[in-house]
Amino acid sequence: MHRRGVLTGAAALSVLPMTACADAPYGQIPPLKFLAPYPLGVATTARRMADPTWAELATTQFSRLTAEWEMKMEYILQPDGSLKFDRADALMAFAAQNRMDVHGHTLIWYAQDGAHFQALAGNPNAFLNAYAAYISDVMGRYKGRIRGWDVVNEPIWDDGRGLRDCLWRKVLGDDYIGLAFEAAHRTDPSAILFLNDYNLEFTPKKRTTFLKLCERLLKDGAPLHGIGTQTHIAADLQPGLITQALRDIASLGLIVHVSELDISVHGDLTANIAEPRLKQARLLEELLTAYGDIPATQRYGVTLWALRDSDSWLNTPQGGQHLLPDEPVLFDRQGRPKPLAHIFAKSVTL
Ligand code: G3I
Repeated sequence: MHRRGVLTGAAALSVLPMTACADAPYGQIPPLKFLAPYPLGVATTARRMADPTWAELATTQFSRLTAEWEMKMEYILQPDGSLKFDRADALMAFAAQNRMDVHGHTLIWYAQDGAHFQALAGNPNAFLNAYAAYISDVMGRYKGRIRGWDVVNEPIWDDGRGLRDCLWRKVLGDDYIGLAFEAAHRTDPSAILFLNDYNLEFTPKKRTTFLKLCERLLKDGAPLHGIGTQTHIAADLQPGLITQALRDIASLGLIVHVSELDISVHGDLTANIAEPRLKQARLLEELLTAYGDIPATQRYGVTLWALRDSDSWLNTPQGGQHLLPDEPVLFDRQGRPKPLAHIFAKSVTL
């Protein structure tokens, strides 16, 4: 069933509910988690969960949490090989208290390998045993409580030429990916296992290479169940690229997770901020329309990579230095719904 688009950016912005008030200058929105026909997630950290205003808004609007960094090797794996789970445990407790799902992010990533694994690089057998043990120790701790995991994150070079070089590939070969999925599936056969990457909409060649990798993994019998398309995009992204990307990604028949959504308004600094905001609104509309066109059985959900603009990595040095703060998500620095939140509410329900 083809879905009609919702309001265009300009029209949508002009029909905001007029119940504006001091704590909601653009009007209130209903809990988005009850509007969406699939789970809505948000990235979090221990510090954010300890903030009562963050907790109140996040638990009202979303039904799933992803650890922004504290379930990654950079936090869990200590130099001596021991594992530190205090903040992952706290996130699990917070999710349970608030009847929220947790998406596991991430087990194996080129960007983080840790001194422990670097010290084992000369002994492939010991390395492989430690590799499988890390996956089983981390996943096993939450077996049956974490529905889906990003087993391997960002395996493809930005230009799409092939598999990135990384310590995992250097020691274990190209099959480091299949080995990770097999270890993950052995640990928790009930978990949905994802391969996750970014720019799959922005760089068609990267998408092609990524999807070929998925097809090869499936052909080799790897327990690959889902694709995470991070969707860190900028407002000046060409219209139509998201729609094509989601069609291509969904064509494999796997489960699809929009896993790290944010829409930067700093891709187009030439215009005044009103223009990037309109482009941002139209891209969100396009994304949710295209995601809604994916068969319901393949829709794992949409995860925002921050709750409030001030929580976004894009407003940290990692996200780049900008003259103005970025505005990549649905709620403003005060936690108030922006026009983008109203667009989300209208687009997600169609
Ligand atoms: O909060 C601590 C601080 O107490 C400590 O002094 C400091 C120095 O170690 O670290 C601070 O933690 C940092 C954390 O962000 C704060 O939220 C970590 O070092 C830093 O590595 C971490 O960066 C995260 C990054 O992944 C690396 O894990 C970003 O928040 C997170 O947004 C980013 O997310 C990635 C996805 O996992 C994969 N896709 C791209 C996305 C954006 O880069």
